[in-house]
Amino acid sequence: MLSVAVLISGTGSNLRALLEAANDPAYPARVVAVGADRDAAGLAHADEFGIPGFVVPFREYTSREEWAEELGRRLDELQPDLIVLSGLMRLLPAALVARWQPRIINTHPAFLPEFPGAHGVRDALAAGVPETGASVIVVDDGVDTGPILAQERIPVLPGDTEETLHDRIKPVERRLLIDVVRRIATGDIDLARSSRQPA
Ligand code: GAR
Repeated sequence: MLSVAVLISGTGSNLRALLEAANDPAYPARVVAVGADRDAAGLAHADEFGIPGFVVPFREYTSREEWAEELGRRLDELQPDLIVLSGLMRLLPAALVARWQPRIINTHPAFLPEFPGAHGVRDALAAGVPETGASVIVVDDGVDTGPILAQERIPVLPGDTEETLHDRIKPVERRLLIDVVRRIATGDIDLARSSRQPA
């Protein structure tokens, strides 16, 4: 059984989908903890599913490194097999990434390497592209530059706003995330191998 720690910043709708999937005894992964960089609304999902939640409040630390040191301590205590960044809107410092690489994965609301960063949906809309997408990647020390584990195209529709487009992207992200975590758990995806060569 693969143990998974999930890190969030926001509403945690993708986290919730993973919690629901992991509730099925046949699913080969379990969420063991949910961490956040703020008092994120999504922590309520963890609560509802009886999963411990914790907050390492970014704003209470004087540097990203100090914040990440405490976050790293919490993760070391938990010793998860996998860390899922599910809407964590903070960059992890290289030292923390190096400690866990390649066992941190991230969901992103664009077809990487297109539109990396914090505003993947907004940037795709602003660029006027006819389609964007959703991706699940291995985290490396760049911004959304790690090996791609799964991705899918999603059309941009006339009249789309950031919200309507993001609302159509998220269900695809959820499906990809649940599938990637399952495939990591069953050994169908070998993260070490994926990180040595493009997927
Ligand atoms: C998701 O679309 C996720 O891919 C995105 O934040 C959203 C979180 O939604 N992450 C990033 O943009 C990271 N660069 P949720 O809180 O409802 O799951």
